[in-house]
Amino acid sequence: MNGKELMETVLSGIRSTGNLHLGNYFGAVRNFVKMQHENNCYFFVADYHSLTTHPHPDDLHNNVRQVLAEYLAAGIDPEVATLYVQSDVPEIPELYLLLNMNAYVGELERTTTFKEKIRLQPENVNAGLLTYPVLMAADIIIHNSHKVPVGKDQEQNLEMARKFAKRFNFMYGVDYFNMPEPFNFGQELVKVPGLDGTGKMGKSEGNGIYLVDSPKDIRKKVMRAVTDAGPEKPNQAMSEPVKNLFYLLELMSEASTVDHFTEQYNSCTIRYGDLKKQLAEDIIAFNTPIRERILDIMNDDAYLSKVVKMGAEKARASASKTLNDVREIIGFKHF
Ligand code: TRP
Repeated sequence: MNGKELMETVLSGIRSTGNLHLGNYFGAVRNFVKMQHENNCYFFVADYHSLTTHPHPDDLHNNVRQVLAEYLAAGIDPEVATLYVQSDVPEIPELYLLLNMNAYVGELERTTTFKEKIRLQPENVNAGLLTYPVLMAADIIIHNSHKVPVGKDQEQNLEMARKFAKRFNFMYGVDYFNMPEPFNFGQELVKVPGLDGTGKMGKSEGNGIYLVDSPKDIRKKVMRAVTDAGPEKPNQAMSEPVKNLFYLLELMSEASTVDHFTEQYNSCTIRYGDLKKQLAEDIIAFNTPIRERILDIMNDDAYLSKVVKMGAEKARASASKTLNDVREIIGFKHF
């Protein structure tokens, strides 16, 4: 047995619908990078999942390349973790088909994310959206994963994955699938606020800073961030938008910078413009090396192709083993 087999299996995926932002980086990808050495990690680009929103054929491939380049630039080592593209692993859709036979329309219709999609895109309520949790379950259990690092918004999907895994075990009287548990990083869970004053940084909210943003974009976005009229009394409590800016400052800047502006805030001498200028420069200093790596990797087709081939090979080795077992358990036999 080699070391990997003794380790727990960790799996997570990111849909190829848009660039990674600082929230994705500090909330998830940075932790993937740390986890890859202590676990048997699978990270993938969920391109089948992106089809529920009907991407244009001209964009699909580049969206996948972009997410791959961002994973790599952020520090996922394809020699250590298994980094792959979902559509390169045909065992996943086959397991999805098999799991669909034991997934009930009623329970799928009751999923919060599905109900949310009906509300958001009533003109495109496709069956892929309904069975999204089944495909996600297939993604997870195809490698018999133990831990799935995902955000709170994915917890119900993960609960469904456990339900389908458990149901399979029960139906066939086997103890084959592990129960994949959500994994949050305990103390290290960081919620990155957006620049619009409320809530966290999101892909669709338009309040984020992307890893690929240029210095010019970053300056523009930070200077536009929502603030308030400024403190009127010494040591006044901060409003949410201002608290968020200080939170970003803590994440991105030196402790002395945070102290400096906190003192200014408490003595009512702060000019938010100065804080924003400093914050923008600190974000730029952090982003620039990652951005450069993203752009380099995006220009290196040979490297990307090598990474993707290696990932597909490793992912398929694990996936085909599971699928063979599953087919045998269900009762398929060779002629
Ligand atoms: N549904 C996830 C999201 O939208 C992406 C995803 C697809 C995923 N398959 C997965 C995440 C399996 C974790 C495990 O963010």
